[in-house]
Amino acid sequence: MANRKYIVGNWKMNGLRAQLSDIAAIAAIAANHDDADVGICPPVTLITAAVQANPDFAIGAQDCHFAESGAHTGCLSAVMLKEAGASYSILGHSERRADQQEGDAEVKAKAEAVRAAGMGVIICVGETEEERDAGQAIEIVTVQLARSFPAGASADWLTIAYEPIWAIGTGRVPEVSDVAEMHAAIRVKLGELMGQGSDAVRILYGGSMNGSNAAELLAVPNVDGGLVGGASLTAAKFAPIIEAAAEA
Ligand code: 13P
Repeated sequence: MANRKYIVGNWKMNGLRAQLSDIAAIAAIAANHDDADVGICPPVTLITAAVQANPDFAIGAQDCHFAESGAHTGCLSAVMLKEAGASYSILGHSERRADQQEGDAEVKAKAEAVRAAGMGVIICVGETEEERDAGQAIEIVTVQLARSFPAGASADWLTIAYEPIWAIGTGRVPEVSDVAEMHAAIRVKLGELMGQGSDAVRILYGGSMNGSNAAELLAVPNVDGGLVGGASLTAAKFAPIIEAAAEA
């Protein structure tokens, strides 16, 4: 049986209080499409206000420190994010792996910390263009997944997002056959890593998903949803993706 579709908007470093109205509009659209799960990960500064204004809508964080507290200037722990209102966090996004030099072991530790706080986890994996051109994409991504994989994984709190780095913010999307091949490989690897229950772990596609290509991408076997950047920033752009997921 196909998994229920899951669409998450990653706002990255975008959004001031003026954009809370977009979150409210997106939450209202999501409430009218209860055949799919929908969430938004705004900057931390908006989490509490977003949750207070939209208590039934799933607001998440974009990163988290692996420690519970301590001398880590500028960082936030899972319990802090949970107290702020986040119910899950994106982890290991390629922008953090590149900008903050996050490695797989750190992503794994973060995932375990977020889980320990009772939150959900979305772990991102993906290859560079050079790696794809060299025919290494599947090897790179499945090894990244295995090394980033948290202990005790279960589909009720873990989601994987496949985001080819060269497709993020570029308007370029892989061939549907390449998406199908990668998602199938991730599904097989999840089976090796966790055995029973792995089929229920949702695997999202991310990278230039928009209202025009969402239906085609969401129809690919093992594509259980999308992690959406630019096209999640306004309700007008995000709505057709939510609609495509609810109809998929
Ligand atoms: P874009 O949808 O803007 O390509 O971003 C994808 C992404 O990185 C989501 O995490």
